[in-house]
Amino acid sequence: MSAKTILCIGAGYVGGPTMAMIARQCPEYRVLIVDIDAARIRAWQSGEPPIYEPGLKELVAASLNRNLFFSTDVAAGIAEADIIFVSVNTPTKTFGQGAGRAADLQYWEKTARQILAHARRDVIVVEKSTLPVRTAEAMDRILRAAPAAVHFEVLSNPEFLAEGTAVRDLEQPDRVLIGGHDSESGRRAVAALVDVYAHWVPRERILTTNVWSAELSKLAANAFLAQRISSINSLSAICEATEANIGEVARAIGMDPRIGPRFLNASVGFGGSCFKKDILNLVYLCDHYGLGEVARYWEQVVLMNEYQEDRFVRNMVAAMFNTVAGKRIAVFGFAFKADTGDVRESPALRVCQALMAEHASVVVTDPQALPNARLELAVYGDRVTFESDPYTAARGAHAIALVTEWNAFRTLDYRRIYAAMEKPAFVFDGRNCLDHAALHALGFNVLPIGQKPLTHR
Ligand code: NAD
Ligand code: UDX
Repeated sequence: MSAKTILCIGAGYVGGPTMAMIARQCPEYRVLIVDIDAARIRAWQSGEPPIYEPGLKELVAASLNRNLFFSTDVAAGIAEADIIFVSVNTPTKTFGQGAGRAADLQYWEKTARQILAHARRDVIVVEKSTLPVRTAEAMDRILRAAPAAVHFEVLSNPEFLAEGTAVRDLEQPDRVLIGGHDSESGRRAVAALVDVYAHWVPRERILTTNVWSAELSKLAANAFLAQRISSINSLSAICEATEANIGEVARAIGMDPRIGPRFLNASVGFGGSCFKKDILNLVYLCDHYGLGEVARYWEQVVLMNEYQEDRFVRNMVAAMFNTVAGKRIAVFGFAFKADTGDVRESPALRVCQALMAEHASVVVTDPQALPNARLELAVYGDRVTFESDPYTAARGAHAIALVTEWNAFRTLDYRRIYAAMEKPAFVFDGRNCLDHAALHALGFNVLPIGQKPLTHR
């Protein structure tokens, strides 16, 4: 099959960057991205992506209006496509059966039905969204209602990019995973998709599996990564009780190549749109298949994360003489990690909520995430304020709670900040990314994660 037009349904954090990379690496393909969100599409068309991601603007500019196009006309896009990537959102269900755990597949199913209604020729449908295992079966069944002249082949091609490093992850992926059916048309479809990635990804990094393995591998990868963070965070609590140092422990265990050094940074907790959602999805699947013990095992990763977020605020209140009521607290960072404006499931949200429940006066600063932070915290009215300048945010504050490890926070003039704060002044470093000894020498009481507090009498 000679595939010439690639369509992606969903112009979000995954669809936009992934298609921009395909367009740049495969100049002979026409790549079209459609979305029902007209404002998002207008932003992409303007060359100013609607999401902040280092290197993304330049990547889009390389192909925009050459072989990379954006549109809101989903039906027309489907009609001309040879390969359709489905990259719509699959959030956790908030209603009905499985609420709070199962994936909400309404956007995904709508897309399947649109493909069925508008496809005019044989199409390869690629699940890019993260989906429960055996979702491709449901997609197959919906698409089987098509007239005999049109053949659909469904593949699973989960995305492993991380936000903040999306462009690099797409350019040099550790692996590309393609799951297909073991049939003549299945193998042909897999080969067509392998051809796309082989433009820039070494063949040995393109892994082909059956569809169900591909679907499950995505949930499994996120579950393992999140489990590492919950593991190190659980140990950070023991460190605080025993004067062991979590940085030293992480280094010592990470030098064992079977464990490895990456993803062992103790923190206020993991956030992001994927980890919690995908583990809960896995938990729901396990329960569905009667695997209660397996479900409880993975559920603990999420519970430990919530414990860590709550523990961070409990430690703050305890250190600040058991009350933060009426005290100004400067929250440094609202993005769920550095180098993104994304605030979905950010630990900052739970931290701010807990602080407001204690009647603190919260002021949030972040280099990229303030627009999203405002939306997320709109219900709290003037109980929370926003400052783009961290110096202004810290002025008159009793404490700084560092929640996101932005580089910009490491290089601030903390002498100046200290001078403008209420005394005693506290820094709660939820990412262990500041120079604690230097801050202590300036006069701050410094409370890191999983390390001995540096306080003044
Ligand atoms: P997103 O919310 O940023 O983007 C999804 C887009 O799909 C939205 O712009 C929405 O308007 C659009 N959409 C929904 N229904 C549509 C329809 N019927 N027709 C056209 N457009 C429609 O989501 P995202 O972060 O890009 O995630 C997409 C999928 O990729 C999810 O399943 C997610 O789990 C998975 N994923 C995300 C990441 C990440 O880092 N964000 C990484 C790997 C995988
Ligand atoms: C994750 C996966 O890494 C990626 O492969 C998948 O495709 C989508 O989900 P993402 O959520 O964008 O990516 O970012 P990631 O770098 O994994 O960080 C997730 C959260 O864990 C962030 O809040 C981050 O700050 C936190 N984290 C990460 C830690 O607290 N400690 C660490 O050592 C690493």
